[in-house]
Amino acid sequence: MDRFLVPAMSKPLEGEVEISGAKNAVLAVMAATLLADGISEITNVPHLKDTKTMSDVLRVIGCRIDGGSHELRIDTRGANHLEAPYELVKTMRASFYVLGPLVARFGRCRVSLPGGCAWGPRPVDLHLKGLEALGATINVTHGYVEAVCEGRLPGGTFHFPISSVGATVNVLMAATLANGTSFLHNAAIEPEIDNLVDYLISMGAKIQGRGTRTLTVEGVAELHPGKGETYADRIEAGSFLSGAVITHGRVKVTKMTPEHVGALLSVFEAMGCKVTKGKDWVEVDARNVTLKPVSVTTLPYPGFPTDLQAPLMAILTTVPGISLIQDTVYTDRFTHISELQRLGADIQLTGNTARIIGGKALQGAEVMASDLRAAAALVLAGLVAEGETTISRIYHLDRGYEDFENKMDLLGAKIHRLLE
Ligand code: UD1
Repeated sequence: MDRFLVPAMSKPLEGEVEISGAKNAVLAVMAATLLADGISEITNVPHLKDTKTMSDVLRVIGCRIDGGSHELRIDTRGANHLEAPYELVKTMRASFYVLGPLVARFGRCRVSLPGGCAWGPRPVDLHLKGLEALGATINVTHGYVEAVCEGRLPGGTFHFPISSVGATVNVLMAATLANGTSFLHNAAIEPEIDNLVDYLISMGAKIQGRGTRTLTVEGVAELHPGKGETYADRIEAGSFLSGAVITHGRVKVTKMTPEHVGALLSVFEAMGCKVTKGKDWVEVDARNVTLKPVSVTTLPYPGFPTDLQAPLMAILTTVPGISLIQDTVYTDRFTHISELQRLGADIQLTGNTARIIGGKALQGAEVMASDLRAAAALVLAGLVAEGETTISRIYHLDRGYEDFENKMDLLGAKIHRLLE
């Protein structure tokens, strides 16, 4: 298992970095290609472990996949093995996205339950209830979800009791091939959903309400292969901007959508950073800034994203004063705290609220990444720690950050990958 060596107290990050396509968007779009028979194309695809895993899931189903450097062509003409096995779904929850498209197009499928994840249980009940509302019959047996329907799904109305990105993805995809019109209320409005809607429309889907909490989907008998670009990864952008803040540097992220990181930028401004924006770029300047502590609550989009909670916490450990972070989206996503404590951070967790007593100098240590965003947080903390930090289990980081060390290098931070 590879490790990262983060040298002692790097200099402030300074420079410009291009943001890759969004992991969470492309995984949904890849699954959506199953809705049509033929060759779909996706551009701005990031090279990530998770995109490889989704390719493996599609191959098991019978698809052929090839492509250029950041393109994928997914040929679904051989898709006839309507099953996603445990071995793949357990390594990446988004594999569960094949459920909706498969049952909608083929009338039956069998997909492994994803199981828990590093920070606790992550249920899929809303995916299943939503598909049932569209007319699918669902049975959960021996760790697998079996979904069937007679002919086409009838379609229906579903109100998501809480905002769920994944459940919206699955139910929306299934609704596109239903026999009737479906109404999805309290749907998620994350940019990744907009990206999926754009792609589905490129396939001939009839969807109204893009960007709102009510999606109206007039089912069609058939979709054709799609073509579209993956949006920029707002979490990757936010992670590099966090690097500017923690090192008191200046970083410009490009080829991205500033609006998608709005909540993060508001926090950085409240902390005293200078934020400048263009059409497709953002610069955060934290040079010579005395950072102020903040209280932040994670919320569904457009609120502060749970995926940037760990990187923000790393920053706040260095800011004198008391900061609070409450995670209301994933209330137990705090495994990074014990590792930040190993670096000397003073953090107390009560329920879903972390109290960060910031300002104590961090000290390099051996730490372990527990999930993708925790890995990014530990790199950020390591950048400003006294002494070297080694981070194990960085395969988590490889799931979602393309070309990470090289991009850090462009900003002046030398992070070494220790191959094992
Ligand atoms: C997606 C993202 C993940 C991000 C999360 C929240 C992908 C591949 N992953 O995960 O990076 O952290 O959104 O922005 O896009 N819930 C239920 N029942 C369900 C589904 C969800 O109770 O059937 C709950 C979850 O436990 C959580 C909340 O809903 O408390 C939001 O989760 P959800 O938006 O579904 O997250 P994911 O789609 O799994």
